[in-house]
Amino acid sequence: MADKKVSFAIIGAGSRGLDSYGKYIQEHLDEAEVVAVAEPREFQRKEAVRRFNIPAENVFTDWKELLARPKLADAIIIATTDRMHTAPAIQAAEKKYHILLEKPMASTADECIQIVEAAKKNGVFFAVCHVLRYAPFYTKIKSIIDSGELGEICSIQHMEGIAWWHFAHSFVRGNFGNEARSSFILLAKSCHDVDILKWMVSKPCLAVQSFGHLKHFRKECKPAEAGPRCMDCPLADGKCPYSAKTLYFGNLRKAEHGWPLAMVIDEMTEDALEKALREGPYGRCVYQSDNDVVDTQTVNMEFEDNITVDFTMSAFTPHGRKIRIMGSKGYLEGDDQVIRMLKFHGERDEDWVSYDVNKLATDITGGHGGGDQRLMNAFITAIRTDDESLLSTGPDETLESHLMVFAAEKARLENRIVTMDEMYTGHEQLHTHK
Ligand SMILES: NC(=O)c1ccc[n+]([C@@H]2O[C@H](COP(=O)([O-])OP(=O)(O)OC[C@H]3O[C@@H](n4cnc5c(N)ncnc54)[C@H](O)[C@@H]3O)[C@@H](O)[C@H]2O)c1
Repeated sequence: MADKKVSFAIIGAGSRGLDSYGKYIQEHLDEAEVVAVAEPREFQRKEAVRRFNIPAENVFTDWKELLARPKLADAIIIATTDRMHTAPAIQAAEKKYHILLEKPMASTADECIQIVEAAKKNGVFFAVCHVLRYAPFYTKIKSIIDSGELGEICSIQHMEGIAWWHFAHSFVRGNFGNEARSSFILLAKSCHDVDILKWMVSKPCLAVQSFGHLKHFRKECKPAEAGPRCMDCPLADGKCPYSAKTLYFGNLRKAEHGWPLAMVIDEMTEDALEKALREGPYGRCVYQSDNDVVDTQTVNMEFEDNITVDFTMSAFTPHGRKIRIMGSKGYLEGDDQVIRMLKFHGERDEDWVSYDVNKLATDITGGHGGGDQRLMNAFITAIRTDDESLLSTGPDETLESHLMVFAAEKARLENRIVTMDEMYTGHEQLHTHK
């Protein structure tokens, strides 16, 4: 079907389903089309229908209705919120849809295993949206590693800097601040990082260890004068780096109406913002919210062949990731934009080579440094050419990196080293490195 359009159903036409992956399809109507949607929010549902001219009989308010019908499309995009991935993914596999599933696969290790078993049993293409694997910055690093220029990988150090204001917005006041409402932060945010580290090493992970705490955003760290809401707090104007008043009024005054401000208000006025900050979740003091996810975490990973990897997630940084790769013949460091590489030679001189990712790729627009677009392109091409190898985030790979994340959280909570064998117990057939 190399020339045939791939038809899609979208489950969850929200920010990711409609505005990231749907947008790609809109811009590539020669490759793909959307023929069905399930979305409870009327505005989003109608928007999907309008953009893709979806026939009325294929428009649903719930994923269960869509999957109760005979197969409607070649493939399905599942972009519902984290805790609503497992049942639609398993049922879609049973209906023989090829599946593009948002990360994280599921909220528990058992559910991830069930999803992978369903996808494999039904022989469908299955990719998880670990979009960084498709972003030019990381594909360039991976190609340097694979070329052997760095020699044998000995260790990797990686940091995900979430940025103080982003952390306060999403992981203290917002949807991802409370584990019972979303997931632990390593799964919600850093499963991308663990996944790319596993991909860089390309060897089985043997064991993990982790420390992490809610170090700062808790009542004990509250300055004495701080009020429960920023609008009435004496520290809000210039004396608190986490002031919601400063952040969101700053966004509004600079006409930055997208994320994060769009999460706080629909109507872009000072009155609406003041009301939202006085009454809604985003105006709460960061020391007096209902957050419980950690703001500081480290994970140490041991891979086969004595390769060690350490990862740090922190709220207390500027925005961005930083990676350093130590190889037997060279060293590489990068910061999401520029890659610098030093090849060792007999003399002491340091000959650095730099790659600017903006110059490497003609198109790094779109989400995640071009990763969103390239993932969609890979998924559609894999189906059109019947070539599953184009999907680097298939079931085995993704299961392993997700189980590493669950192992790390287990290690943190139980204060011990957790082996990957332990995570595959009872499902050894899925342990592809064994
Ligand atoms: N790959 C990435 O880098 C990345 C980035 C952001 C978010 N995500 C993940 O993408 C997923 C979606 O996140 P989002 O930001 O688009 O959220 P969102 O809330 O914008 O979209 C989720 C949509 O699912 C819909 N929905 C709820 N119940 C439904 C049902 N019963 N049937 C069908 N649809 C239903 C909601 O109405 C909503 O429109 C999450 O799992 C999130 O963690 C991934």
